[in-house]
Amino acid sequence: MAKRTFHAAHSPLTGELAVPGDKSISHRAVIFGSLAEGVTEITNFLRGEDCLRTIDAFRAMGVHIEVNEEKITVYGKGKDALKEPSQPINLGNSGTTARLLIGVLAGLPYHFVLYGDDSLSGRPMNRVTVPLKKMGAEIDGRTGGRLLPLAIRGGKLQSIDYEPPVKSAQVKSCVLLAGLLADGRTTVIEKTPTRDHTETMLKGFGAMLDIKDERISIDGGQKLKGANVEVPGDISSAAFFAVAAALVPGSSLILKRVGLNPTRTGILDVLTSMGAEITILDEKVNGGEAIGDIRIDYAPLKGTTIGGELIPRLIDELPIVALLATQAEGETHIRDAEELRYKETDRIVAVAQTLQALGAKVEVTEDGMVIKGKTPLHGGTVDSYGDHRIGMMAGIASFVTDGAVALKNPECINISYPSFFDHLEKVTKDHS
Ligand code: S3P
Repeated sequence: MAKRTFHAAHSPLTGELAVPGDKSISHRAVIFGSLAEGVTEITNFLRGEDCLRTIDAFRAMGVHIEVNEEKITVYGKGKDALKEPSQPINLGNSGTTARLLIGVLAGLPYHFVLYGDDSLSGRPMNRVTVPLKKMGAEIDGRTGGRLLPLAIRGGKLQSIDYEPPVKSAQVKSCVLLAGLLADGRTTVIEKTPTRDHTETMLKGFGAMLDIKDERISIDGGQKLKGANVEVPGDISSAAFFAVAAALVPGSSLILKRVGLNPTRTGILDVLTSMGAEITILDEKVNGGEAIGDIRIDYAPLKGTTIGGELIPRLIDELPIVALLATQAEGETHIRDAEELRYKETDRIVAVAQTLQALGAKVEVTEDGMVIKGKTPLHGGTVDSYGDHRIGMMAGIASFVTDGAVALKNPECINISYPSFFDHLEKVTKDHS
């Protein structure tokens, strides 16, 4: 699939859609299930390439993991049963596998070599290797241990108190996982909250955490017990269709059983502040995670300002928000989002270039962008930059362009949303 064409289609999005399982929660369920004693059954697991990398990594350490139609079963035997892999571990494109796994490996008495694809090999790993080295792990890699491939000599770790210099759930999770395997009490200090699935799921697997204000503490040496995890729909995937419905007059779309953890729902706040009508139906809590149906009804859009504490609550949704902003009256300012530069690609540059190629008025700033709306968009050929969220943004753009959008390198969409193309067809009959 070298190129994919999205024909311009402006028919309203209606009906219901169940988006695939949450990527962050799917990764964590495999990691905790592999460290736990007992069986973990995971339903609605995201079968995207990134999460399959996490399964492969633990299989390489001897964990028996069964994948079948309706569920993933992890036969955990505790962390002491994990074995030294005989080969380097391929992390593919997956930043979450990399950062969380490194935290586990640092606490195991073995040698590991980790590598990834070109994109992952350019992403900073010092954000996790710095605290892990302070805890006693030996880690080296390219550019002084900053980049993959990395070699890890794990073993006995000491606890630390650590305030990450970046607002990152991956870094927090890495240090908490290492803390679970370390001696003593490890504390992560987090001034701006980031997604808290690690904390919630650790409790579900029987660990005790002490969470007070900005301090998240875990005592090392605790044993995890296998648990069943029903993965909610991924709000980061739902965001693409929520935005499509918000863009096309007459749309009224229901996204079913989506995770509504408040550390992830910034996209709903932004849609609402821009004028879209959002209604939450049937909300409940499942395994400590809020879940519910989201109804989006089209209404005229206006620009907004997005920054500060909101950013970690919608970091992965900023590309699709930028597309939305091109169709809103007035300016939209995205600031405090420098982290976008360290994702699968530099998403500030990739978003701006992709939208500009379709006729949008986007100005790049150091830590975000300014988008001037409302601008008619035209068709054209764009590249995914190998980044799944850029590829899907381009696909959704065809709901408002006056001609087809041809997407080069669309296969990366399988990273997080393998059924994206089928779902596009499902929500509107004449879209392909
Ligand atoms: C993730 C955290 C975020 C997010 C990524 C998944 C996680 O990264 O962008 O897609 O599962 O913890 P950072 O925490 O590094 O911002």
